Amino acid sequence: MTAFRVGILGATGAVGQKFIRLLDGHPWFKVAAVGASGRSAGKSYAEATDWREHAPMPEDVAALTVGECHPDAFQGVDFVFSGLDSSVADTVEPLFAAAGRSVISNTKSFRMHPDVPLVVPEVNPSHLDWVTRQSWGSAGDGNGTGGSAGLSQGGFIVTNPNCVVVPLVMALKPLQDAYGVSDVTVTSMQALSGAGYPGVSAMDILGNLIPYIPGEEDKIREEPLKILGDSTLSIRSTAVRVPVANGHTLSVHLTLGREGVTVDDIKATLSSYASPIAGMGLPSAGLHTIMLHDDPFSPRPVPHAMSHEGMPTHVGRIRQDHSGGGETQISFICMAHNTIRGAAGGAILNAEVLVAKGLLRGR
Ligand SMILES: NC(=O)c1ccc[n+]([C@@H]2O[C@H](COP(=O)([O-])OP(=O)(O)OC[C@H]3O[C@@H](n4cnc5c(N)ncnc54)[C@H](OP(=O)(O)O)[C@@H]3O)[C@@H](O)[C@H]2O)c1
Repeated sequence: MTAFRVGILGATGAVGQKFIRLLDGHPWFKVAAVGASGRSAGKSYAEATDWREHAPMPEDVAALTVGECHPDAFQGVDFVFSGLDSSVADTVEPLFAAAGRSVISNTKSFRMHPDVPLVVPEVNPSHLDWVTRQSWGSAGDGNGTGGSAGLSQGGFIVTNPNCVVVPLVMALKPLQDAYGVSDVTVTSMQALSGAGYPGVSAMDILGNLIPYIPGEEDKIREEPLKILGDSTLSIRSTAVRVPVANGHTLSVHLTLGREGVTVDDIKATLSSYASPIAGMGLPSAGLHTIMLHDDPFSPRPVPHAMSHEGMPTHVGRIRQDHSGGGETQISFICMAHNTIRGAAGGAILNAEVLVAKGLLRGR
């Protein structure tokens, strides 16, 4: 396969840097252009970026000149990944789509748009087909409707969910299929890297936690309903920032629509879940969709968040709280790497599925 030439919007940020690192040596996608704010534009990527990744900055990307986030600066690319702040993405992403550069985005701006797929590939890859409904001819109106460009001339926008929602829906989907799920309560313990860099002040978080993350709880309540296709699902959420570098941990309580479901039943259901993208030969799809932990002191951000390239969802501490009246209440802990599985790695996997489905083509 000829490599696709890709651009990264917000390339200097925490998620942008993760894209650069994960795409280094990728067999299908080659980074050909990078964009950021006017503060960075015109500098080399090496000069503009406070590189926080543990691997060295790829030399070919280090030498690229950072451009403004406008389609004119991305003429030679097939599509772009976006790690922009939503206040910028609101107008920039439709501009790129209208100019024929499809956008695979991490940002919340268009996640709840009815024609924009909000996808975790192991859960709802069929939603990617919605891209054929999009038209961004009237770019910048934020509606994506009524434009004249259509897919024959324009591109599309595909999103991946909030970084807490990814492990949540990966754990919920097998349970929903097997038993039906209702009344979910989630408390998220979210890593510092989720706030970008430099993020939260050390004085605020050292030996501390912060029991509120603005905007986060609404996303955790709303996005799973679109992904799981269940508008009646009730989710209560509390989002807490904790002094962890990488890996969001969730304490989850929920009700299953069947009485007498045991802990062993739950383990068997999660471990036998057949990912719909298994066998597609995707470079970023790991062997492990869900990793179960029997040790009651697991999963933990250190050492589990980075296992298997940071892509699995880890589940442990599964408990049955109550059974009766035609339902079973259970609790568990789940965890995933927020900037890999919950952001850049998930977006790259979305792009790989789009290529495999023939929906993303070179220009
Ligand atoms: N961190 C996570 O775990 C995570 C997970 C899932 C989703 N997300 C989402 O991903 C997005 C990026 O998050 P982040 O943590 O990477 O943020 P970040 O570290 O603050 O990076 C923001 C990026 O956007 C660029 N930017 C800022 N203002 C701009 C403008 N006016 N025009 C063009 N570019 C501009 C910045 O460029 P400069 O360097 O030039 O300022 C930088 O490259 C957010 O929407 C966030 O909600 C983050």
